[in-house]
Amino acid sequence: MLVDIHNHILPGLDDGAATVEQSLMLIANAAANGIKHIVATPHQDETYKNKSLIVYTKVREMNALLLEKNIPVTLYAGMEILLNESILDNNLLTLANSGKYLLIELPNNHFPPYLFDVLYKLQLKGLIPIIAHPEKNAFLLQNKDKVLEIVARGALLQITAGSVLGKNGRKIKAFSNQLLKEQLVHFIASDAHSLRHRPFLLNKAYEYIESKYSTDLVEYFKENAKHVLKGSEFYVLDTKR
Ligand SMILES: [Fe+2]
Repeated sequence: MLVDIHNHILPGLDDGAATVEQSLMLIANAAANGIKHIVATPHQDETYKNKSLIVYTKVREMNALLLEKNIPVTLYAGMEILLNESILDNNLLTLANSGKYLLIELPNNHFPPYLFDVLYKLQLKGLIPIIAHPEKNAFLLQNKDKVLEIVARGALLQITAGSVLGKNGRKIKAFSNQLLKEQLVHFIASDAHSLRHRPFLLNKAYEYIESKYSTDLVEYFKENAKHVLKGSEFYVLDTKR
């Protein structure tokens, strides 16, 4: 039973599924990947100002439809929150409403100077920040020391399945593998947007990681995603830093 903690499957909320039909096709794609539980994480940023209530409503509507269509997948509410200085003033939705894990997206091409300050404040509130796809951040790609510092300060890292498989280019694949090798990764997630361009590749990524690293590492990622669903904490593998 697989859990996906980062994707854009809810219809009409962001640059992911545009319609209910597209959403259902993506969810069927997830089911074919063996995914039974999906934490839906629409963008929350300047372009898509999704509020908690709309996410809850869409999740409830889609779950009713899945039941009706006999598709054995359950959706949970979450969001992918673009980091900004005033993030703490917003009504933030934790992953699966766990009250624990928060999915944070960094700006694509620079390192926000206030990152560690915000992470610390989130932690003071009892939240555990998960940084979405750090391997796609142009600054971090050149500054691995900052990745080490993010992890040392207690944030967790989520690498995207497509990055591991080379769908985001050679450099990002190499960086993803470097982070995997050094045990700096805590989750693999699909970040699925559409069947055509960014489908669910979770199973393929796990197969790749199993062949290149170990079954144990894959089990670790699968278990960690279940902890997010439950809002329970887990033992983080020691890094070689
Ligand atoms: Fe995303």
